[in-house]
Amino acid sequence: MAKSKTIYICQNCGTQSPKWVGRCTACNEWNTFVEEIVSTQPKSTQLRVSVAKPVLFSEISASEAMRIDLKNDELNRVLGGGLVQGSIVLVGGEPGIGKSTLMLQISLLLENNILYISGEESLQQIKLRAERISTKQNKNTLVLNETSLESIIQHIKEIKPEIVIIDSIQTVQTEMIESSPGSVSQVRECTSQIMKLAKESNTSIFIVGHINKDGNLAGPKVMEHMVDTVLQFEGDNNYNYRILRTLKNRFGSTSELGIFEMQNNGLREVSNPSELMLSDNNSSVSGTAVAATIEGLRPLLIEIQALVSHSAYGNPQRSATGYDLRRLSMLLAVLEKIGGLKLSIKDVFLNVVGGIKINDPAIDLAVVCSIVSSTLNLPIDRQTCVAGEVGLTGEIRPVNKIEQRIIEAEKLGFTRIFVSSQNKKSLNLKKVNINVVFVSKITEILQLLFK
Ligand code: TYD
Ligand code: MG
Repeated sequence: MAKSKTIYICQNCGTQSPKWVGRCTACNEWNTFVEEIVSTQPKSTQLRVSVAKPVLFSEISASEAMRIDLKNDELNRVLGGGLVQGSIVLVGGEPGIGKSTLMLQISLLLENNILYISGEESLQQIKLRAERISTKQNKNTLVLNETSLESIIQHIKEIKPEIVIIDSIQTVQTEMIESSPGSVSQVRECTSQIMKLAKESNTSIFIVGHINKDGNLAGPKVMEHMVDTVLQFEGDNNYNYRILRTLKNRFGSTSELGIFEMQNNGLREVSNPSELMLSDNNSSVSGTAVAATIEGLRPLLIEIQALVSHSAYGNPQRSATGYDLRRLSMLLAVLEKIGGLKLSIKDVFLNVVGGIKINDPAIDLAVVCSIVSSTLNLPIDRQTCVAGEVGLTGEIRPVNKIEQRIIEAEKLGFTRIFVSSQNKKSLNLKKVNINVVFVSKITEILQLLFK
């Protein structure tokens, strides 16, 4: 019988503590510690004789890893050109975003031996969904309804599939730990066992993971460093399109993203994203500008809306949602002084679409453009976006990761992007097809946009 003891684990970052503490010392979150029972296996059962030997660099053969074509361009792209054999891919996203749909679609489409393990849906539910998605159904796909890690591992060892899909890691439970499924210690232990299996048997494994309310993968830190690739599914309830981003990839770049559209019969790949941007926003309206921002490590194009109107009460109002109000006042002063606009007698309302709070200074330029667009009642064309910080003298300052912003803008179907001329020297423009316009003053960009 395994001896068990209890420890406290931060549900946000996985830090352990022998005592309950109110605030995590690692991630500074409050009230995240939960008591968990951890059964400690005798160390002797885990001891292994290591057979690995140090080798010289020159003796390592660097053959390109074998990749499986997933017959899905967007998914292949975010994985860096296909699924690497023996790799573990974590697919994260909010509930209902389409993770199971995507995984099922691959299982139906491919000819490879696939084992689809679902702990969330019954076999009948999966069958119904499969019938909705596709008429063609892979003859080699096996479906398993199981949540016990031990029997999952046994099945994988017996069946020896090429690809395993585990939907989701939060439902899988190992007997070695007594805490409930979905807890940090269960997720960590199950992931590490699955990883060991993948490396030993050279099986590629997709793990589906849910995202908690803060937008992080549940048990985030404990899983992300173990797996080879982390993909994140994002989307907006008001739109049908879904974005699949690479957050981490040991076998490719992390600046890739895949775009899908959720339809009645599953997810459709969107190879030309501009169709989405254009169909959603056919008419150009004044007062909006699109900013190419970076959120954390991820580039993101965000629409900024401004409404500038006559102040009815003599005391002009300023309001900003998702943007710093003091920074807005500063930009209004710059526009008044350098742009020559009479804004001190106007009400100004600013809104970052989607209710996201942005700290990236690169959205300054979009704020300026949307305010001027609303003041002059002249729309900015929908295929233009901007990225730049605005200084007190009206100069447009350079921003970081400019290449990533430009690539994202191009990917999302924009044809023109305005950036600071000081970004010019750090930029290698051979790779991009989008028209990059360099500007150094706000007067310059306003002339180009509203001539
Ligand atoms: P699902 O893949 O179950 O999400 P997740 O596994 O990430 O929780 O997606 C479910 C949503 O997708 C649900 O709201 C219905 C919608 N959907 C479609 O619109 N069309 C389809 O063909 C399918 C299968 C699902
Ligand atoms: Mg699901």
